[in-house]
Amino acid sequence: MGQTILVTGGAGFIGSNLVRFILENRPDDRVVNLDSLTYAGNLESLADFKDDPRHEFVHADIGDGEKLDEVMGRVDCVLHLAAESHVDRSIHDPSLFLRTNILGTQSLLDAVRRRGDSIGRFVYVSTDEVYGELPLDDKSQLFTESTPLKPNSPYAVSKTGGDMLARAYWHTYGMDVCITRCSNNFGAYQFPEKVIPLFVNKPIEGEQVPLYGDGSNIRDWLHVLYHCEAICRVLDDGVSGEAYNIGGNNERSNLELTKMLIELCGRDESAIKHVEDRLGHDMRYAIDATKIKRELGWEPTRSAWPAALEATVQWYKDNRDWSDRVRSGEYQRFYEQNYAK
Ligand SMILES: NC(=O)c1ccc[n+]([C@@H]2O[C@H](COP(=O)([O-])OP(=O)(O)OC[C@H]3O[C@@H](n4cnc5c(N)ncnc54)[C@H](O)[C@@H]3O)[C@@H](O)[C@H]2O)c1
Repeated sequence: MGQTILVTGGAGFIGSNLVRFILENRPDDRVVNLDSLTYAGNLESLADFKDDPRHEFVHADIGDGEKLDEVMGRVDCVLHLAAESHVDRSIHDPSLFLRTNILGTQSLLDAVRRRGDSIGRFVYVSTDEVYGELPLDDKSQLFTESTPLKPNSPYAVSKTGGDMLARAYWHTYGMDVCITRCSNNFGAYQFPEKVIPLFVNKPIEGEQVPLYGDGSNIRDWLHVLYHCEAICRVLDDGVSGEAYNIGGNNERSNLELTKMLIELCGRDESAIKHVEDRLGHDMRYAIDATKIKRELGWEPTRSAWPAALEATVQWYKDNRDWSDRVRSGEYQRFYEQNYAK
């Protein structure tokens, strides 16, 4: 039987891909997409679902308890993605991150709790950054779900706060909570401040790409649609109270990624400008996703790389107008023009 799924942050990068994924792959389900439309929220990413009766957009902040009470009356479960998500911004304004990612999560959990048993599962979409960092020189080390949480940036701390709070609501109030901790996502509709769209737009426009430090930091990359699939798998079959790592089994240094991107944009290494490193830049993230594979049968296919990266670069090349409207601020008028009464 179909359900009505509340997706918070559904106008963001992963959220909009997830809303699209649900609407396209789960025909019996409906989505209530709740988003406050910060600078990172872009409803144009879901323009083709504007009039879909299975997609309801609610312009609201996760801190607005009254509004949440009204929305909770018509949903069956929650996928919580709304967050401040950019590490560099968190270094300059930690308080906003703590407010949204911890207090906002508490507000949402409380709204679910007020509904008692009428709401089923609550999935908190966390991140691998809650584990802190791994050394570069020992590739045998991976984050597992039992790795101690040791976040390093204000962003990671704020996500860890939300992560632990979600678990505490399971433990204390018996709420049906699952947590997902995923590595770096790439794909369409990512805000142009993030590395992949930024490192595609700049070379195309004849500019250099600003690479932090020597580029030796390593990240694990997963296509966003695999992440969406994994979140739905946890929603359907995850065990209450459990956390699930999600990863691409696809570690790349920032330098390797940068070289691939500029080459796909027809430029050589002269397009790289090394800039001062990010403060407290974590060296390496690497995920052991054995648990979700073993227990829920979810697995990313390694063959998705580099084809999925190439397709993503092509998407940004083909959708320059989407990026241009974000960079000019025009995208922020979409809600007003199409939704606001
Ligand atoms: N991007 C990644 O690689 C990655 C990896 C692992 C986990 N995550 C997590 O996934 C989630 C989504 O990440 P993203 O990259 O799509 O982020 P994003 O910044 O692109 O989107 C965040 C969305 O949340 C909305 N939002 C922010 N504050 C809000 C509030 N107070 N009330 C309602 N809506 C609000 C924004 O308007 C935006 O639409 C985040 O929780 C992030 O921590 C991201």
